[in-house]
Amino acid sequence: MKLPPLALYVHVPWCIQKCPYCDFNSHALKHDIPEEAYVNRLLDDLRADLEWAQARPITSIFIGGGTPSLFSAAAIARLLDGIAAQLTLSDDCEVTLEANPGTFEQARFAGFVAAGVNRLSIGVQSLAATQLQQLGRIHDPAQAITAAQHARTLVLRSFNLDLMHGLPEQTVAAAMADLDGIIALEPPHISWYQLTIEPNTSFASRPPRLPDDEVLWEIYQRGHEKLAAAGYQNYEVSAYAKPGHQSRHNRNYWQFGDYLGIGCGAHSKITLADEQRIMRCEKIKHPQGYLDLTRPLRYRTWEVAASELPFEFFMNLLRLNEPMQKQLFTERTGLALSVAQQALAPAISKGLVVEQNEAWKTTDLGRRFLNSILDEMV
Ligand SMILES: C[S@@+](CC[C@H](N)C(=O)[O-])C[C@H]1O[C@@H](n2cnc3c(N)ncnc32)[C@H](O)[C@@H]1O
Ligand code: SF4
Repeated sequence: MKLPPLALYVHVPWCIQKCPYCDFNSHALKHDIPEEAYVNRLLDDLRADLEWAQARPITSIFIGGGTPSLFSAAAIARLLDGIAAQLTLSDDCEVTLEANPGTFEQARFAGFVAAGVNRLSIGVQSLAATQLQQLGRIHDPAQAITAAQHARTLVLRSFNLDLMHGLPEQTVAAAMADLDGIIALEPPHISWYQLTIEPNTSFASRPPRLPDDEVLWEIYQRGHEKLAAAGYQNYEVSAYAKPGHQSRHNRNYWQFGDYLGIGCGAHSKITLADEQRIMRCEKIKHPQGYLDLTRPLRYRTWEVAASELPFEFFMNLLRLNEPMQKQLFTERTGLALSVAQQALAPAISKGLVVEQNEAWKTTDLGRRFLNSILDEMV
């Protein structure tokens, strides 16, 4: 077992209001954000986890949410300076911040860059006014367009636009118009998610009318071709990038790398190579509990059982549209290759995965039925 690269995730759990489809750990703001107290707590949280870094440099930082762009640039600067004071950041460390396209957030973009952010991920979701309203978004198409145009003027290593499809009553033409509009903004990276109805959301209790399966399939096929024709490589289920612009942070998850998670409900996955163990940990989820100085920040910490490692490894690796290197399995899990062969055998016999000398490759059929490959493992 080798020590994998290490990334850092920082969770910010507040939003102006809760979107009806969202099951992320985010809470509608009732008062001002307790910025100072939260940044202090995040830095305490990191300090308590430092041992798990095992002297590795951080290769990427992702400040996600919630809506991190609700924080002032000064708070983000204090956070990033505090992180850099505790950990070594690699020279080309990717530092992403998730931003909503509202006007207040946009006014802070330059300040975020001055604070050390070098990649923005902007939640556009749709460029149609009625769809945005149905999705409970508080920005309009014009704000989304100016946010993307603004991002293009900043000195960033990259930026991403989040777009959803399969929206309530969406037609193929409307979904294609959204994609055309996004492509025209020339983002180096696009995350193109199909809307899913998650349990315990407003959409789950009052389901909107979604397009039927044929329409969803046509949206996917035509959209996928459109993105490819515009020069975007589909390197993961929903991620499309121009050459050189894949998300380093997300790739690390999908390659079963290590990460520290700080903030409400954040998760960590850490390899203890000397002890031949992989640990996971989850932080207290609710902001009130997280900010309570009398409580420990870790909610639970556990070791991943060896029997669960093949499933966990492939659950991540299968997302990437590239051959899965056999060597990575032994490096990341510490298990013998024969364990992986056994786990993949049913998928190989059904033509979902093929075995090559140095790697396993998902077939076109396997790519359509990724969950079946995993179902075969349990
Ligand atoms: C943490 S969220 C968003 C960050 C930011 N607060 C925003 O809303 O723009 C990350 C992305 O996941 C996507 N997402 C969230 N819920 C989803 C759902 N139920 N189905 C599909 N995509 C979803 C959205 O595109 C969203 O931008
Ligand atoms: S989608 Fe984004 S803005 Fe909406 S509730 Fe979720 S995290 Fe907040």
